[in-house]
Amino acid sequence: MTTTNRPSIDGQRLLQRLDALADIGSTGDGGSCRLALTDDDKAGRDLVVSWMRDLDLDVTIDAIGNVFGTWSVGQGSPVMTGSHIDTVRTGGKFDGNYGVLAGLEVIASCQEQGITPTRPLSVGVFTDEEGARFAPDMLGSLVYVGGMALEEALDVVSIDGKRLGDELARIGYAGSSPCPGPSPHAFVELHIEQGPVLEAENFIFGAVTGVQGISWQELTIVGQSNHAGTTPMNLRRDPAYVAGMMAVYLREIAERFGGDQVCTVGKIDLHPNLINVIPARATVTLDVRNTDEDTLRDAEHLIDTFCFQIEQDEGVSISKRQLARFEPVEFDPRVVDIVERHAAAVDDRVRRLPSGAGHDAQMLARVCPTAMIFVPSKDGISHNPREYTDPEQLVEGANVLMRVMLELTETEF
Ligand code: GLV
Ligand code: MN
Ligand code: MN
Repeated sequence: MTTTNRPSIDGQRLLQRLDALADIGSTGDGGSCRLALTDDDKAGRDLVVSWMRDLDLDVTIDAIGNVFGTWSVGQGSPVMTGSHIDTVRTGGKFDGNYGVLAGLEVIASCQEQGITPTRPLSVGVFTDEEGARFAPDMLGSLVYVGGMALEEALDVVSIDGKRLGDELARIGYAGSSPCPGPSPHAFVELHIEQGPVLEAENFIFGAVTGVQGISWQELTIVGQSNHAGTTPMNLRRDPAYVAGMMAVYLREIAERFGGDQVCTVGKIDLHPNLINVIPARATVTLDVRNTDEDTLRDAEHLIDTFCFQIEQDEGVSISKRQLARFEPVEFDPRVVDIVERHAAAVDDRVRRLPSGAGHDAQMLARVCPTAMIFVPSKDGISHNPREYTDPEQLVEGANVLMRVMLELTETEF
């Protein structure tokens, strides 16, 4: 990598802060669990807000709990960066946290180095990006851009039976700034790739071109609970069997479609969940993604037909709840070009690629020119305590973020 006298962040401080945030909700194995709007999420937010205040930022909290730290220099709407600090239950250190803390580092380093941007710089911490506790994912940024009504979002119920609005108030982050919020001048999010492509192909940076479409459904399969020893196989109406068939069928769809198609059954709950009882009920989550909207629709259609068929064959009933549905997003080519150029100035191993994971940037792309920067994930592992990125790559990614943000302050769209 080339070292130059271009503006750079304080790498040691960034790495120390990543560790300090990861200690909150630490799972003891290198990972963190800060499910959205839990006590640990609150503690993580409090720490990040204290760092915003140390920088004298204007801290605002909106009605869905998104937190913004804005350095009110210059004129006009801000260039915004940011991400999330909520995690899945088995979260790593970097997913989301890296983008938020690198954003603060950009502002701190500008202030320390006497760099005065011509527009405000803002860092957003978006509520419930993961969707692991409250669906859909990217909920805070979705509400921010007006894609979901505030009242509807506040009424979402978590996997542990809590209302989002009540949890937000409980942790003290039901703010007063209105939703939807004002559109930034531009938005750029720095994130770990969370997949294997950059590392496998020996790239150091990703200039992210967009985000694939996502469909989340929850199926509730109701059959007949009965004795495991006495009920002949041909007389069963077995939700566990159907749940298993769903997982097998999703794998078949992914193999048949090939390309970017991915399908996951990530959660199966059986009731009553006992060794010698045919279950009465199964709930199964389906996560289906593709970069192409038509193909994603085809996959959803096949799943519907399969559900109908297996209802007849097994004598169960299946009801569906759509938990999330977002079309594929293409980022603004002008911002992607700026990302690519600044990354290439550090190291020419830059690859354009779409994101397999969902991100807050895909929501911000609805209201302003947007793109993302990726750095590699070791072994492509994420949503796992083993999530790891080389510290030098983390620091260089944040340097690229700084230069991209500064150029965006000077860019008229
Ligand atoms: C969010 O992290 C997702 O892509 O599931
Ligand atoms: Mn993330
Ligand atoms: Mn994630």
